[in-house]
Amino acid sequence: MCGNWEPGTSRSSGGRALAAALAWVVMGGPAAGADDAQWKAPAEERTRTNPLSPSPPALLKGRALFQRHCASCHGAKGKGDGPEARFGPKLPQDLTDSALQERITDGEAFWKITQGRRENADVVMPGFGREMPSDEDRWKVVLFFRSLKVEQAGR
Ligand code: HEC
Repeated sequence: MCGNWEPGTSRSSGGRALAAALAWVVMGGPAAGADDAQWKAPAEERTRTNPLSPSPPALLKGRALFQRHCASCHGAKGKGDGPEARFGPKLPQDLTDSALQERITDGEAFWKITQGRRENADVVMPGFGREMPSDEDRWKVVLFFRSLKVEQAGR
C-alpha cells in the first residue's frame, strides 16, 4: 500500500468508519472524479500511455503550461516548494523524486491532472480538464512531469 493517503495514527478512532468507506470503494464505489478518499485512477486510465513523444517543442510547451498552472504549488522545478504550496490542506510532494515517478504511470498522471483531488470541501489539487481542455496539452504537461526526473538524474 502506498502510505501517502493513509490517515495519521492520531485519527485511529475513525478506523471503523474508514474501513467501511474502503469497503465501499472496493465494492465498486464512486465514479471517476468522486473517489477522492483514495485518489486512485481507474485501471483503464492507469494503463493509458502518452500518445506524444518528448520532442523539444512538446517539452517546451509542457514546461510553459506547468509554469502557468502548476508551479504556484509544485514549484518551478517540481520540488513542491511553490509560493502557494503551504496554503492548501496538504503539501505537494517532490515531483522529481524517483520513487514517486516510478509509482505513477503516464495514464495516472494524466488522470490526476484532469480530475484533481478534493477532500470533503477542500480542494487539495484543482482539476485542469476545463482550464486545459486540450488532451494534447495535458499530455504535454505529463511529458514535462517526466522530464523532471531526468533533470534530477543529470545533476
Ligand atoms: C493548488 C495547488 C496545486 C496546483 C495548482 C497543482 N497541484 Fe498537483 N498536487 C498538489 C497537492 C497538494 C498534491 C498532493 C496531493 C495529496 O497528497 O493528496 C499534488 C499532487 C500532484 C501529483 C502527485 C500525485 C501522486 O499520485 O502522488 C502530481 C503528478 C501533480 N500534483 C501534478 C500537477 C500538475 C501537472 C499540475 C498543473 C497542471 C498541478 N499538479 C497543479 C497541489 C497542486
